[in-house]
Amino acid sequence: MIHTITVVGAGTMGHGIAHTFSRHGYQVHLYEPFEAVRTAAPDKIRTELQFMVDEGYITPADLETGINNITMFDDLEAAAKDADYVIEACPEKLELKQELFAQLDKICKPTTIFATNTSSLKLFEMIAQLPEERKKRCMVSHWYNPAYLIPIAELSKFGNMDEETFQEVYDLYVACEKQPVRVLKDIAGMVANRILHAQARECFYLAEIGAASPEDIDKALKYGPCFRNATTGMLEVADMGGLDIWLATEDNMFPVLCNGDKACSAMRELVEAGHLGIKTGQGFFSYPEEKRTRTQMEFYKRLIVQLKASKAYG
Ligand SMILES: NC(=O)c1ccc[n+]([C@@H]2O[C@H](COP(=O)([O-])OP(=O)(O)OC[C@H]3O[C@@H](n4cnc5c(N)ncnc54)[C@H](O)[C@@H]3O)[C@@H](O)[C@H]2O)c1
Repeated sequence: MIHTITVVGAGTMGHGIAHTFSRHGYQVHLYEPFEAVRTAAPDKIRTELQFMVDEGYITPADLETGINNITMFDDLEAAAKDADYVIEACPEKLELKQELFAQLDKICKPTTIFATNTSSLKLFEMIAQLPEERKKRCMVSHWYNPAYLIPIAELSKFGNMDEETFQEVYDLYVACEKQPVRVLKDIAGMVANRILHAQARECFYLAEIGAASPEDIDKALKYGPCFRNATTGMLEVADMGGLDIWLATEDNMFPVLCNGDKACSAMRELVEAGHLGIKTGQGFFSYPEEKRTRTQMEFYKRLIVQLKASKAYG
């Protein structure tokens, strides 16, 4: 049974993963080697939990549970020695994650399950040097950002783990109100990011050729495909529309869709000019200083609305 969870790294993903587990009653040990990040994490966690209270998603008691169940650590051994499940959310570098898992293998109990939140690295490369018995308890558990608001968690089911161990982790995510997805093949981007980037490629391309304004491209996405797909998946939508219709449309559309194998030049030019989006004040859209925090908060508020609505999606 999983009781104690160690989260490695308290950055963008790690702190949100930590308070998702802690507010659902799990004991969380949050390890962060960098002092500035470590000391900032508790305030960040409290602010996010308070936001969920203010939006009526959790109770003040949930907030207190979330805070009280997290202990910060600056020492990996102390943080991980009692863990039943360890999830790493440290920088996306293969050697760093290999080294971390090798250390954890020495620190942790033989039964501890290791998970990586990697977005792009291969699980079996990451754990190649671990003993065979440990490899049977390693997996990808891929969250979306912001981790505490987006329900999906992609769980690798690549054949190295026995059914019982996998189910234990699956049940953990269900208990934390996540929507776990079983990913059966060790493919880059798992499932969700492949879908995301296929869609993103076409959006950026449409902006590049001026097919519509950036505002209207986003509007088309929000109130068209994503509006429908937020409630009902693509495969089911196709079934409902009629596969004969979809077949004919795909045969017509696929030859004219963007199939570039590099990021589109509109995006490249923005990045080269130093326009990195909200963090620099300019991307596809402009974000004057006074608007940035508000824009970010409005995004989170819409996600909470969506999170509440998604409870009805079945
Ligand atoms: N940011 C996203 O949108 C996102 C989404 C899904 C998955 N991921 C994946 O999650 C992981 C973490 O990404 P992030 O965006 O939170 O990165 P981040 O840089 O915000 O956080 C990483 C944290 O790890 C800490 N760290 C550095 N070296 C470490 C070490 N040796 N041991 C432990 N911790 C160390 C850093 O101090 C930092 O706080 C990556 O694998 C990334 O691919 C990121």
